[in-house]
Amino acid sequence: MQFAKRTALIKDSSTLSITAKAKEMRDKGLDVVTFAGGEPDFNTPDYINESAIAAIRDGFTKYTAAAGTPELRRAVADKLARDNGLHYKPSQIVVGNGGKHCLANIFLALLNDGDEVLIPAPYWLSYPQMVYLAGGEPVIVYTKAENGFKVQPEELEAAVTEKTKIIVLNSPSNPTGMIYTRAELESVAAFAKKHNIYIISDEVYEKLIYDEGFAHISIASLNEDAYNRTIMVNALSKTYAMTGWRIGYLACAQELADVITNIQSHMTSNPNSIAQKVNKRGGKEMREILFKSELNKFGTFKDFLAELLAEGEVDSNEVYALAEEQGIPRRTLERAKSEIGARSVQRADGWIWTMD
Ligand SMILES: Cc1ncc(COP(=O)(O)O)c(C=O)c1O
Repeated sequence: MQFAKRTALIKDSSTLSITAKAKEMRDKGLDVVTFAGGEPDFNTPDYINESAIAAIRDGFTKYTAAAGTPELRRAVADKLARDNGLHYKPSQIVVGNGGKHCLANIFLALLNDGDEVLIPAPYWLSYPQMVYLAGGEPVIVYTKAENGFKVQPEELEAAVTEKTKIIVLNSPSNPTGMIYTRAELESVAAFAKKHNIYIISDEVYEKLIYDEGFAHISIASLNEDAYNRTIMVNALSKTYAMTGWRIGYLACAQELADVITNIQSHMTSNPNSIAQKVNKRGGKEMREILFKSELNKFGTFKDFLAELLAEGEVDSNEVYALAEEQGIPRRTLERAKSEIGARSVQRADGWIWTMD
């Protein structure tokens, strides 16, 4: 028996397999620090959990509209207007099973066989695999540490071809943490306009910014052209410690949103109804609570890493170096554990460190 050719192209999700391996090791009683999945190191706040329980008790357990309830799509549209200066009708929003699912839907909706997708590296590992699954060709554009791992216009120009259809932007970035400025986004938008390509803007780390002087700007908000060619993706997973709930969303031109809704309706139908009900509370109240409490914990860990880097306990002045080095000093991790009780570190894919 032969499997479909597309399966030969894709690799397994190393992030998920490492996470599973870490769990297996923990279950055996080993004390493990993993560097794999982007998993908040705290639980979903209780009042969110309570509203999910209420949704179940109220019988909100049936199919909903494939692209999400009108109520939730309205809430997302309000959020995008308030936080990002982006104006979409609820019908331009598709709620999917996490940001990952939204991204996969977009590639399926846009790519024909052989279409190329520009992916600046370092990148989140799923992008190329999703592109392959949709019949496309990932074209990796290597960025430089001296440019803060930000893709430069000349690097894009060197990579673009007749077949290029999409550029993927991820700001704030996983894994480097870099954030594009308005001027940098403007040059990417101008590049996309010049070559008439789509922009996928993955903004799932929008709220995980700790330092003064940095702000998240959505490339779609720059001008009308950028708005029309951008598909904006975000999720509740990271910001609200809701990775397991599987709620992400995308916003784009109406015609494309309709096509994506159609794809989703045949592949998964609606995202989990209970999680959708809960997310109607993802507005101001939730944001305020999280900013005061849980998100600070991310900040604490980030400051801690910065301190270690300043002390020269790792070799580079970039947190990303932690992913690249083959040996974070044992004392670094021991301190991470003893001083802030770190159980997991989310900056890098591909590592497990055992506290034996
Ligand atoms: C850059 C990036 N985009 C998207 C996702 C997917 O998030 P979700 O859990 O909502 O599918 C992740 C998760 O690790 C990510 O790091």
